[in-house]
Amino acid sequence: MQFRQTLLLMVTTMSIASLGVAGCTPQTQTNAQSTQPVTSVQTPQREPDVVYVPTPQEVVDKMLALAKVTKDDVIYDLGSGDGRIPITAAQKFGTRGVGIDINPERIQEANANAQKAGVTDRVKFLNQDLFSSNFSEATVVTLYLLPELNVKLRPQLFKQLKPGTRVVSHDFDMGDWKPDQVVQTQDGSNIYLWTIPEEVPANLR
Ligand SMILES: C[S@@+](CC[C@H](N)C(=O)[O-])C[C@H]1O[C@@H](n2cnc3c(N)ncnc32)[C@H](O)[C@@H]1O
Repeated sequence: MQFRQTLLLMVTTMSIASLGVAGCTPQTQTNAQSTQPVTSVQTPQREPDVVYVPTPQEVVDKMLALAKVTKDDVIYDLGSGDGRIPITAAQKFGTRGVGIDINPERIQEANANAQKAGVTDRVKFLNQDLFSSNFSEATVVTLYLLPELNVKLRPQLFKQLKPGTRVVSHDFDMGDWKPDQVVQTQDGSNIYLWTIPEEVPANLR
């Protein structure tokens, strides 16, 4: 719950800040949050839709358990931050994973973490906008975005994912798409689980 509040607060702050930044700063300029020129890491192609707040490791472990992840899955974390979700799945179960993040700094961190964890043969990180990405090979998708971003993503999930694919979200639901299961962690976070149905329910078309 603490993380949910932090995330919502940070997002509100970022939205206000980005109004100013986006309104008067060309895309090609250096990092808006720093007076230092960015040398080794590129700036994102556009502002992230949500700021980076990592999922606590205890919650990562519960998300993977709720989705019953195995070595036969292919896990995609949409907005993958430092890569902890696919990296943990690769370490614990040998799962192949892909993380997608719009911020090149996060991709650099995630690659370094995968290297440290010794799982670079099983995970990769792509510097892309999740809303224009193809994640159709996933059998498990994990999310820690925001409620409105989950709802915006919903048609893409239905369009791209095979029936039976599990979708797990830290803290935020999917609007009218009711979850199969919701569990609460000790820190008060909610974890939601959905399964892609054979047919998109009439109320969600
Ligand atoms: C709240 S963090 C979650 C990080 C990670 N999934 C976790 O649970 O620890 C959200 C991440 O989404 C990324 N992000 C925001 N908008 C995005 C977009 N349109 N495409 C890809 N990544 C995005 C941010 O850079 C950030 O790393």
